[in-house]
Amino acid sequence: MEVIIQPTYAQLVAVSAEIIRDALLKKPHLVLGLATGSTPIGLYEALVRMHKTEGLDFSSVTTFNLDEYVGIRPNHPYSYHTFMKTHFFNAINIPTENCHIPQSTAEAHEEFCENYEEAIVNAGGIDIQVLGIGTDGHIGFNEPSSSLGSRTRIKTLTQSTLEANAPHFGGTVDAVPKMAITMGVGTIMEAKRCLLMASGESKAEAIAHAVEGPITAEVPASALQMHPHTVVIIDEAAASNLKRADYYKQAYANKQKLLSHRE
Ligand code: PGA
Repeated sequence: MEVIIQPTYAQLVAVSAEIIRDALLKKPHLVLGLATGSTPIGLYEALVRMHKTEGLDFSSVTTFNLDEYVGIRPNHPYSYHTFMKTHFFNAINIPTENCHIPQSTAEAHEEFCENYEEAIVNAGGIDIQVLGIGTDGHIGFNEPSSSLGSRTRIKTLTQSTLEANAPHFGGTVDAVPKMAITMGVGTIMEAKRCLLMASGESKAEAIAHAVEGPITAEVPASALQMHPHTVVIIDEAAASNLKRADYYKQAYANKQKLLSHRE
């Protein structure tokens, strides 16, 4: 695991956007795994800016979103379909048919989930999976106790996730859908690269558990310790519970020095 600690959210977003830009310039047919939530919004803004000002081309990119609520229409104002269109897809030149977001009813979800997994494989697998992290350590909607080998499936959301998402549904927990379809931890682990972003003190405990704690289904993000190519990009506040923060900073500074010598 590479841990990159940046002073602010704006800087962690800039580093994340550069990683995606570099990958896209090397591979125009990039397959991106995408996340929703407040954390990646700045990343999408940065990528949209790169598209508009530098002509960063998304015309051959394919995307797979991590998750979507079950039981709300794609055009619901708080669906993840709407989120992705608003914050990203409508502002870049990606063909609509290249954008995949889970969408199914509870009744039909099994076949849908199998097809979603198959579509990822058929696209050649995910090159970079963008991830946020819940205060309880979830990735996607893989709540604590999720199998670390799980695949795309339907999950019941925990009370803490319902509460965290209530502001998006008029402030009432009752209005938040109770279930979601999510890629599994095992699905995420098959991405060639994972980019876990976190900002703010509310994420400090989850980040410390995920990065330095034991690998456990109680903290689904901790499975990423077994992933060969995960980059955790966080700000100082989210890094505030890490025991080895100084070491991570030193390692990153050394890597930057090596890279600048090579250029
Ligand atoms: P957030 O959500 O980016 O809105 O904090 C992250 C998550 O719950 O995965």
